[in-house]
This record gives sequence, structure tokens and C-alpha cells, in this order.
Amino acid sequence: MTDTLLKTKFAKPFLKWAGGKGQLVDEIDSRLPQELKEGKIKTYIEPFIGGGAIFFHIAQEYPDIDNYVLIDVNKDLVNCYKAIQTNLEQVISELKLFEDLYFSIPTDEKRQALFLKIRKSFNHEKDNSYSSQTAAKLIFLNKTCFNGLYRVNQSGLFNVPFGKYGKPNICPEDNLRKASDLLQKATILCGDFFCCREYVDKNSFIYFDPPYRPISKTASFTSYAKGDFSEEDQIRLAGFCKWLSKRNVKFLLSNSDPKNENPKDSFFETHYPKSEGFIIDRVKASRAINCKGDKRGQINELIITNYS
Ligand SMILES: C[S@@+](CC[C@H](N)C(=O)[O-])C[C@H]1O[C@@H](n2cnc3c(N)ncnc32)[C@H](O)[C@@H]1O
Repeated sequence: MTDTLLKTKFAKPFLKWAGGKGQLVDEIDSRLPQELKEGKIKTYIEPFIGGGAIFFHIAQEYPDIDNYVLIDVNKDLVNCYKAIQTNLEQVISELKLFEDLYFSIPTDEKRQALFLKIRKSFNHEKDNSYSSQTAAKLIFLNKTCFNGLYRVNQSGLFNVPFGKYGKPNICPEDNLRKASDLLQKATILCGDFFCCREYVDKNSFIYFDPPYRPISKTASFTSYAKGDFSEEDQIRLAGFCKWLSKRNVKFLLSNSDPKNENPKDSFFETHYPKSEGFIIDRVKASRAINCKGDKRGQINELIITNYS
């Protein structure tokens, strides 16, 4: 899928999400198992779905898959996926209202006031009376907030400031419709990655994209929800991958390469040993390398598989 014109016909993530894998699509695609490319894999499981860049790619490139199981611990994100799946028309009409309202306001100052009002009502509704309107609010905030970030404070309230963008694409209707079509075959769950266990069988393939182990003391990529993905969670995930290998279930996992910072850090070599059939590849990616996200650099990312 290298033709740019062709790419525009494809559904892509409807939310910008930290750690999105858009730039690794080709590297990951080239390492997908042959069974998936030949249509023998029937269930695709992605337990850290985030914006879903790899899900959207796979669902469109390999249409023989019968079901998708998409999981994330972030309730706001999962509720939004569910609304796009089951209540698309309401989400679109809410977004159109927000879009008309936003562009009818002439100044940044007044647009910011609208942004803050919607942010406040999103924070009020999201844990009390979630509806398709709440999902539309998350999409609106994602399009108009600073850098398209999702970040919550200690109390779980979304707190990203206004972004001052001239022409944000608040209601990408066509993309939302295509995304909704693809989600019709999906089971969407909110929870820990481990709950994918009951969907695993010999015809499934799993792509894991957990929160990164931070590559520097200042780079914190793990605050997607209240509570971080700790070192113990990374080890728990490695244990789950071993469980999959024993059952001959193939997986691919991406993560940051700690050797970018410390060449002696062999965390992944230790927990995904070659002797147990794990293969660790290193690929180049451009990543924000400080906490403000304004400094980018070429670094290595890891792609780990249990097949060649
Ligand atoms: C690196 S992001 C995934 C990005 C995604 N691949 C994309 O292209 O946008 C990691 C995701 O894992 C989720 N997460 C964190 N801890 C989790 C857990 N224990 N179980 C499942 N999901 C978790 C976060 O909410 C976040 O959405």
C-alpha cells in the first residue's frame, strides 16, 4: 500500500493517540505471519488499541479476518470506539453541530471559551452519563486541543489546553463512516490486556503495542490512563507472551529500545530470550524525545515476534 492516492481511500485512526504506530505500518506489515497474509488467521487481537493504526491497516489489507478483538484500559477511548461502532449517526450529527459552532466564532479567544466549555461537560459526563454526545466531545477535544494529546490529571479529568489551530478537521465524516464499517466485526472491551486470553485460539494473531518503557528520565509516555504501565506489567506481558508461544499462537510486539539510552540494558533480551524462540528486530523511528514533545530524533524501536 505505497500509493498515496490509494491510501486516501482507506480508513485511518479517528483519534490522534500518543504512541500511534502510523510510521511503523510498513515495518510491521513486512513481519506479519504468512498465515495472516494467506487468510488463515480468523481472529485479530489488539489488546493496547490506542488510535488503532495497525488495526485499521490490517482490517483493510487482509479482509479475510472474521473477528477483531480490540482492548484498551482507557475507558474514554473504549467508549468512543463503541459509539463509532453502534451510534455513528448521532456522533456525526453532534460533531457537525460542534464544527458549525466552532467556525461561526471569529476569534481564538472565543473559540477557546467554547473548547473549555466542552471540555468541562466532557469531564462531567464521561464517568456519569456516557452517550454518543460524550464520544463526539472527545473527538472534538482531540481535534482542537494542543497537539491532539490525550492526558488526564490525578483525578482522571482531561486537562489538555486549547490548541489554536486555524482549520481543525472536526468532523471527518467519511473517515468515521469507513471506521464504523470496519468496527462492525469487532468486540471492543475495556480492561487489562490479559482479558484477551479467552479469545485466543490457534487461528488468532495478536499485536501488542504496550505503553513504552520510558527512554529517558524525562520522557513519560505511560500516562494514558490513571496509573502507569509499570516494569512489573512489562514482565507480566512477557509471561503472557510465553503462554502464547506454548500454545503456538503467533504474536508481534512493539516497544521502545532501552539500548537507545543505555546499551547495557538487556531487559527485552532477558524477558524474550532467543533460546525460547523469540526474535528481536530493531527498526528506525522518529520519536519525541523529551516530555514537551518538541524535540524529535531517530531512535530504534523493537519489534519482537515468536515466529520467523
Ligand atoms: C502505545 S499506546 C497504543 C498505540 C496504538 N498502537 C496506536 O497506533 O495508536 C498504548 C495503549 O495501551 C493502553 N494501556 C495501558 N495500560 C494497559 C493495560 N494494562 N491493558 C490494556 N491497555 C493498556 C493505553 O491506554 C494506550 O492506549
